[in-house]
Amino acid sequence: MSAEALKTPLRVRQVRFTGAALNWLSRLALARRVINAAREAPGFRSLYRMALGYQRSYRTLEEAEAAVSAYAQQGHQNPANADLHLTLNKRARPSDYAALFHLQRLLPNIRSIFDLGGNVGNLYYCYSDFFPDKDLAWTVHDLPENIARGRRLAQARGADRLSFADTWREASGADLLLISGALHYLKQPLASMLSTLEDVPRYILINRTPVTDGPSFAAVQDSGSFRVACLVRNRQELLKELEGAGYRLLDTWSAAELTLQIPGDADHTVPFYSGFLLEHDPVFVATQSGQEIRADG
Ligand SMILES: C[S@@+](CC[C@H](N)C(=O)[O-])C[C@H]1O[C@@H](n2cnc3c(N)ncnc32)[C@H](O)[C@@H]1O
Repeated sequence: MSAEALKTPLRVRQVRFTGAALNWLSRLALARRVINAAREAPGFRSLYRMALGYQRSYRTLEEAEAAVSAYAQQGHQNPANADLHLTLNKRARPSDYAALFHLQRLLPNIRSIFDLGGNVGNLYYCYSDFFPDKDLAWTVHDLPENIARGRRLAQARGADRLSFADTWREASGADLLLISGALHYLKQPLASMLSTLEDVPRYILINRTPVTDGPSFAAVQDSGSFRVACLVRNRQELLKELEGAGYRLLDTWSAAELTLQIPGDADHTVPFYSGFLLEHDPVFVATQSGQEIRADG
């Protein structure tokens, strides 16, 4: 291995070590105060940032993407990502039960699911076990390498109700949009993506996404063999934006098994991820846009 090629893994190790040390020290009140002061102290700030590398908060997704690009190792399209999700979802994870509860309740109203960020179809394989008799068309859209592997896997497993869409546009006309573990990776706000669809989904089920009650920020997630940038949205802003697109919140829950931690920075730490179920409501859309609604429609 050349000296250049060695630099990346060494830097990743150093960044992880610094993060782990800061996390450990942050458990002590005095150390926490010192870290908080040091983080913004003139003269120390750049040294602090250099040591922490990509493991800090950013203002935008683009900034986080730029910071992680040298260490991404194909990011979402690293084969280890699909391996990880197929393994994790051999069984339902704790946060899947909220999604399954709602899906089972909504089944009489839905015949098609568009699974945005559905990887190679890991949730199709996992969730289908819970409603094997339902004739449900399940379409996954993801990044090209994951779609290609998903298609090969579906063929090998004879999964004839699972298909893959090359474009987001194919979400038009789906009854339910599922976005599990993926909302925080989207470059465009969901409401503006929805505005490009001719026929928006009646239901949106968002699961496993980090949100904050403070200002939105971006971060880098380190999954071991690859790294990706993500955007942690302000909860109220996200819901307001979806309200503006005509979606009413029906339920929200915690995905308690997932956290996002920025070492030494409690303000940008998300102690648990969240889930949301929303329904498109034409009356609600009209009310939002100030139109008068008559009782007969
Ligand atoms: C954490 S995985 C979630 C997998 C699955 N939905 C689940 O909940 O187990 C996130 C997925 O989002 C996909 N993704 C990231 N950015 C995307 C984009 N711009 N469009 C579509 N999918 C994307 C990744 O490739 C990855 O498969």
